[in-house]
Amino acid sequence: MSDEDLDRHVDRHVLKRYDTKGVLGKGAYGIVWRAVDRRSGETVALKKIFDAFQNSTDAQRTFREVMFLQEMKGHENIVSLLSVLKSDNDRDFYLVFECMETDLHTAIRGNVLQDIHKQYVTWQMLKALKYMHSAELLHRDMKPSNLLLNSDCVVKVADFGLARSLRECASETKADDAKLTDYVATRWYRAPEILLGSPSYSFGVDVWAVGCIVGEMLVGKPIFPGATVLSQCETIFELLGKPDEERLRAISCYSKEMLAVLDDTRMPQGPEVLNAGQYLERWRRRFPGVGDDGLRLLIEMLRLDPHDRVKVIDALNHPYVAPFHNAALEGDAGFTALISIGDNEKKTTQVYRDKLYSEVKRIRAAERAQRNEERKERSERAAIAKRDGGGGGLAAHRGVRADTEHFGDASAIPAHRGERNPFDATSAMPAHRGDRRSYFMDR
Ligand SMILES: Nc1ncnc2c1ncn2[C@@H]1O[C@H](COP(=O)(O)OP(=O)(O)O)[C@@H](O)[C@H]1O
Ligand SMILES: [Mg+2]
Repeated sequence: MSDEDLDRHVDRHVLKRYDTKGVLGKGAYGIVWRAVDRRSGETVALKKIFDAFQNSTDAQRTFREVMFLQEMKGHENIVSLLSVLKSDNDRDFYLVFECMETDLHTAIRGNVLQDIHKQYVTWQMLKALKYMHSAELLHRDMKPSNLLLNSDCVVKVADFGLARSLRECASETKADDAKLTDYVATRWYRAPEILLGSPSYSFGVDVWAVGCIVGEMLVGKPIFPGATVLSQCETIFELLGKPDEERLRAISCYSKEMLAVLDDTRMPQGPEVLNAGQYLERWRRRFPGVGDDGLRLLIEMLRLDPHDRVKVIDALNHPYVAPFHNAALEGDAGFTALISIGDNEKKTTQVYRDKLYSEVKRIRAAERAQRNEERKERSERAAIAKRDGGGGGLAAHRGVRADTEHFGDASAIPAHRGERNPFDATSAMPAHRGDRRSYFMDR
C-alpha cells in the first residue's frame, strides 16, 4: 500500500488537526505517520492502533500502553505521549507522540553506529530501565524497533503495550518474584526463564533483552535468531552452554520436559564448568573484533539464570558505559507505576475502553488545571518583574534537560566534535526535543 493509500485510513477529524507527511513505521498493531500539528506547527508522530479494542487482550494492551506511557512521562529516554484521540467508529485509537527520526532496528541495519554510539545507546537504555524498574514496571518488549532514535543519537523507549507493574502482583506472592502469565514478547529477545515457561520472572527479562540488543549492535545482526521456541533455546545454549538439570530447574520448573527433545551434543560447557577466561575466549571467537569491555558486559547481561544476571544499577557502573556514566543523571522514578485496572484482572473490551476514555478525561482536566496554574504563576512573575523594573524573569534555561547539558559540554559522540555524523543523512534534530508539554485533546 502506498503512503497515500495509508493516509486514507486516518479519520477526517484527525486530518483536520494533523497533516500527515508519510509513514514513519509499522508495527504489529498500528501504523505511525509523521504529521504536523496544524495549530502549533509542531512535527509529531501519529500512531493509529487498528481495532484497538477488538478483544479483551487487545483492549488491555491499548489501555496499558496509554496508561503506562502516561506514568513514565517526563523521562528523557522514554517517548513522550502528547495526546490521544478517539476514532469515529470507536474501534480504532490514535496516540500522538513527540516525533523521532528513526529506530534502532533501522540504524543497526543501516550500519551507521560507531563504537561510541553503541556505548551511548547502551547507557541510555540502561538509564531508562533503571527509571522504569525503580517504578516497579517491566517493559517486557525491549527490542530494536521499540527503541526510537534521533540524529544526535538520543534514544527513547517506546511501545509500552506489554508493560506491566510488578507491584500489583506482589500481594499474591514474593515481592520481587511475582506470578505473571499470558505474556508473549518477541522471541529473539525473550529471556530463558520465559522461554522455559517459568510463571515467575522479574526485572531480569528486560536486562536479558537489552543484552540481546547490545549484542546486535556490536555484531550488526540479531544474536539469537531462533525460528521456534525450541530452536531459540538451542541458539542460546550453543553460546552459553547447556546448564545442568539442577540449574535448569532453578530457572523454571518446566525446563526438563521442555528440553527433553533437545540434541545437546553440540552444546558446549557453561560458565559453571569453565573458568572466566575460557568463557570469555568463547565469546571473543563468536564476536570477533568486539572489545573486551563490551563482551564482558554482554556476558553479565546474558546469564542464563536470572539470579546471576547483572542488575541494571551494576550495569550502569560497567566500564563499557563509563564514558557516559553519571549517577546524577541516572535517577529513580521515586514512585510506583500503577494503573487503575490491574493486569491480573481480565475485563471486557467495553470496560477497558470506558476506563481509558474516562482516564483520558481525568488526565486532560489535571493538565488543564496545571497549565492554568503555570499561566497564573507566569503572569504573577511578570507583574513582579515589571514592578521591580524588569530583568528578573524566568531563567531562560530552566527547563533544559540534564542529559542535554551533559551532551552539550562533555560530548563524547564524534558528531559533536565536528567529526562526521553518521546520522547526517537524516534531517536535523526536531525542534521540539526538549518539549515535555502535553495537551491531551478533547474529542
Ligand atoms: N514517536 C515516534 N517517532 C518516530 N517513529 C516512531 C515513533 N513511534 C513509533 N515509530 C515507528 O513506528 C514503529 C511502530 O511503532 P510501535 O509503537 O512500536 O508500534 P507497535 O505497537 O505496532 O509495534 C516503530 O518501530 C518506529 O519505527
Ligand atoms: Mg513495536
